[in-house]
Amino acid sequence: MFSQSLKHATSTSSVNSPTLQVDLSQRSFRSVSDFRKAKRDGRKISMLSVYDAVLARLAVEAGVNTLLVGDSVAMALYGFESTIHATVEMIASHVGAVRRGAPCAFIVADLPFGSYRRGLKAAMKAVEAMARAGASAVKLEGVAGNEKIISHIIESGIPVMGHIGLTPQSVLALGGYKVQGGTEEGAARLIEDAIELEDLGAFSLVLECVSRSLGSRMSSHLSIPVIGIGAGAGVDGQVLVASDLLGLSPGRSPRFVRRYLDGAALVSKAFEEFSRHVGDAHYPSEAESYD
Ligand code: KIV
Repeated sequence: MFSQSLKHATSTSSVNSPTLQVDLSQRSFRSVSDFRKAKRDGRKISMLSVYDAVLARLAVEAGVNTLLVGDSVAMALYGFESTIHATVEMIASHVGAVRRGAPCAFIVADLPFGSYRRGLKAAMKAVEAMARAGASAVKLEGVAGNEKIISHIIESGIPVMGHIGLTPQSVLALGGYKVQGGTEEGAARLIEDAIELEDLGAFSLVLECVSRSLGSRMSSHLSIPVIGIGAGAGVDGQVLVASDLLGLSPGRSPRFVRRYLDGAALVSKAFEEFSRHVGDAHYPSEAESYD
């Protein structure tokens, strides 16, 4: 009876306790009601921005609740300077890969810059591309000017996640990657935006780069979960970009990033060893060759 779950057991608890093996992939959310339930039960939601089948599968097997295919893909994978370079085709292609790696996961797809500001028809074309590629929901940045589009997407049957605070697609207008809602008026405006998103029917929202006190206030004002990135510990969940968490992103990380691995150093070492082994004729060995 347990064989299926034991086969996929990847938990550290299985290492620590041979008798109690846990299938962590059971923590993967399946629908928007899992988000509501998590908030109601006071369980924090973990979300990772991933772009490929390999990391998607590993994230789900490790017990990450939900996956995001963020427009950060343009920076993290394609080397662009900002998320403005992400396109519908680019994100949809990565949604497909993530879906193949995590067939049962709840996958949120970012609607990229421009795709939802050219009228309903263009917005719905982008939403359709994401849904057909395998997205369970879409995320879009900001509220003002997006109200009709948000309602229309939700009425069409696709769940919407909001994104407020630091909205990277507007980084030029915001004057850089800075903490948002620093004044009482700014904080009040963000709370109004969040309430409007909830009223429009968004099932959750990402809150980026605000003070921890604003994060807590926002979470207690809303019945939908607030998933923070640089919004302190008082929100209902946390999202990070997988390549930041794995230490694969070049340059200095923002204060809110916790690096769980020195990935760049490990990968560089492996590549350097491979190159050296080839040069020294230490690779391949006899065992790595056919008779
Ligand atoms: O693009 C992305 O990965 C995101 C998260 C950082 C929230 O929007």
